[in-house]
Amino acid sequence: MQRLSGGRVFIAGELQEADLFFDEQIRAIGSDPEFDAAEPLDVGGKIVLPGLIDVHVHFRDFRQAYQETWASGARAALQGGVTTVLEMPNSDPPTLTLKTLRAKRARAEAAGVRFGLYGGLTENNIELIPLLAPEVAAFKLYLGQTTGGLIVSDPGALREMFAAVAESGKLLAVHAQRPQSRSEAADLEPALELSDRYHTRLHLCHCRTREGIELALEARRDGLDLSIETCPHYLHFTQQDFQQQGALLKVNPPLASAADREYLWDALAKGQIDILASDHAPHTLEEKAQALERAPYGLPGVETTLPLMLDAVSKEKLTLARLVEVFSTNPARRFGLEGQGQIAVGHDADLVVVDPTRRQTVAPERLASKCGWSPFEGFELTGWPIRTWVRGRLSYAAPAP
Ligand code: DOR
Ligand code: ZN
Ligand code: ZN
Repeated sequence: MQRLSGGRVFIAGELQEADLFFDEQIRAIGSDPEFDAAEPLDVGGKIVLPGLIDVHVHFRDFRQAYQETWASGARAALQGGVTTVLEMPNSDPPTLTLKTLRAKRARAEAAGVRFGLYGGLTENNIELIPLLAPEVAAFKLYLGQTTGGLIVSDPGALREMFAAVAESGKLLAVHAQRPQSRSEAADLEPALELSDRYHTRLHLCHCRTREGIELALEARRDGLDLSIETCPHYLHFTQQDFQQQGALLKVNPPLASAADREYLWDALAKGQIDILASDHAPHTLEEKAQALERAPYGLPGVETTLPLMLDAVSKEKLTLARLVEVFSTNPARRFGLEGQGQIAVGHDADLVVVDPTRRQTVAPERLASKCGWSPFEGFELTGWPIRTWVRGRLSYAAPAP
């Protein structure tokens, strides 16, 4: 039994001064005489949060192990306070069959972070949906061309897919951006229509514009079962930054306007956006340094998301309660991750101690991701994770500042 004392613990929506007693699960909160003998670790006024849950990462490995492996991705996650990741199927090989799913699971299990795997969908694996369903966190559909090339465009295949995923009970995560995209709202329409017709539960990946999110909110008011995700890069960069920095900020879907960025902060604060995820997409600097047309899409971010958001909390752009909701509680609830997403007796001991006053600059030498760079390099942020436990196992401890 471990005992964490002196912390301000995020319990039921607010910070409470309480000791935590835990092994793999949280056993008691407060000062429970039954456990009082445990040797305490004093975290001296720091904040204790439930482990963060990043529902959108690309951890590559296999033929793209030069960009990221499960081992390096897991280290990056853990030092970013992320205790669970849900990983996308557009890897090489892509996660389309039970065989590739299980090969990936073997790597992931050895890595030390909790995880779930998305099953990819193509025109050729629709009949596998019932078979894959028990082993995937959710299904992922790409309606447009991007890294990995898992695009589906045949209308008949899409109808079958939406029906089969609805039948499986799993969520369908959608990369809605299409070739010749006119607007995010226009991109979302086909998925919303199909979901309406087949009652498919949707997760809308990386939403980034007022137009798109307003359409999704309207569809939700009309009864669609959908969740809205946004990512830190859309909260921090705009298309002007892309014009200045070029390929380094090339990402799918592309960065939006300054007005959209302000709208995102507002929608996040109001609870209209349900889930924050990094869309951690590691490409090497060498790849990103190519000419704009050749450079790949994607930005790493699994280890910088929490510090960026803690910094936003320090600047009062967002409350700590909303941060925990969109980056832990809602992801757990939406993706059915039982025992995760909150600090409560009987829940898993996935815990993060954060120092809300630690001020540190994002620097490549401190990053664990194998890709070795960050679009947020040079950002001076207030608020950093300093210790991470996964099911009661101390999995990261920050060096002294
Ligand atoms: O920018 C992106 N990068 N968008 C995607 O849809 C895929 C991702 C990747 O895997 O690199
Ligand atoms: Zn995507
Ligand atoms: Zn992605």
